[in-house]
Amino acid sequence: MGGTAPGGLAGRSALVTGAGSGIGRATAARLRAEGARVYTVDLQGAVDRHADVTAPGINAEIVAEAAARHGGLDILVPCAGISAFHSLEGHDDGYFDQVIAVNLIAVFRIIRDAVPYLRQSRNGRIVAIGSTMARFGDAGLAAYGASKHAVLGLTRSVACELGPFGITANCVQPGAIETPMTEPAFTAMPEFKAYFEKKAPLGRLGQPEDVADVIALLCTDAARFMTGQGFFVDGGAMTRQ
Ligand SMILES: NC(=O)c1ccc[n+]([C@@H]2O[C@H](COP(=O)([O-])OP(=O)(O)OC[C@H]3O[C@@H](n4cnc5c(N)ncnc54)[C@H](O)[C@@H]3O)[C@@H](O)[C@H]2O)c1
Repeated sequence: MGGTAPGGLAGRSALVTGAGSGIGRATAARLRAEGARVYTVDLQGAVDRHADVTAPGINAEIVAEAAARHGGLDILVPCAGISAFHSLEGHDDGYFDQVIAVNLIAVFRIIRDAVPYLRQSRNGRIVAIGSTMARFGDAGLAAYGASKHAVLGLTRSVACELGPFGITANCVQPGAIETPMTEPAFTAMPEFKAYFEKKAPLGRLGQPEDVADVIALLCTDAARFMTGQGFFVDGGAMTRQ
């Protein structure tokens, strides 16, 4: 994408949640650079609609607004997510439920509520945001790891169900990316940051644009025969023990 001629998504209408920050913000910018009209949602930041994606009924409202604003919906990128390190004892019911509510249930609901619009598109695309945490686990990330494993399973089932309508569903699985989500951990634990830099054969942490470019690529015609897949965007970190 970056480096190719822009315009691969001209005329497409997109909806991106979590677009106030990090990967979601970079994705909205990349989709726009490719010619898409993008409706953006987040709790905060410079977006079209401030909303909590876990609120009852909100996802149906959001997709209807996006479709009304831009005359339909072709691309859905549910990118809103939360993460923090907590021991198992620190995973009280409220914290566990909140992570699952944002990272999984809201993703399911917005996909479900977008289906009637995506079915009317000739180029329906869903790109969910998983994680390398769908391949392994880590101390302190019980709820987050569970949610990201589940997003991959959700994506695969959605791909099977929506394939007959020409809609693709894929899951981009970032490694360690420098965003406000990871900033507190990398600041508090520089050794953690150094570990991820070393683990990736490309020798650096990812930037939001590294992920956004792949998300946009999956939305173009070039990816029309790819569905039900998870794609690591991790500088090769998952190739190392
Ligand atoms: N940064 C990484 O290393 C990394 C790695 C793997 C996966 N991811 C995933 O990428 C996605 C984006 O994360 P990021 O790193 O850009 O983080 P970020 O914190 O920069 O952005 C996440 C955005 O989601 C929004 N959000 C959170 N809860 C919300 C809610 N209830 N309703 C509406 N918006 C809400 C936040 O306000 C924030 O703007 C997440 O799903 C995350 O799990 C990130």
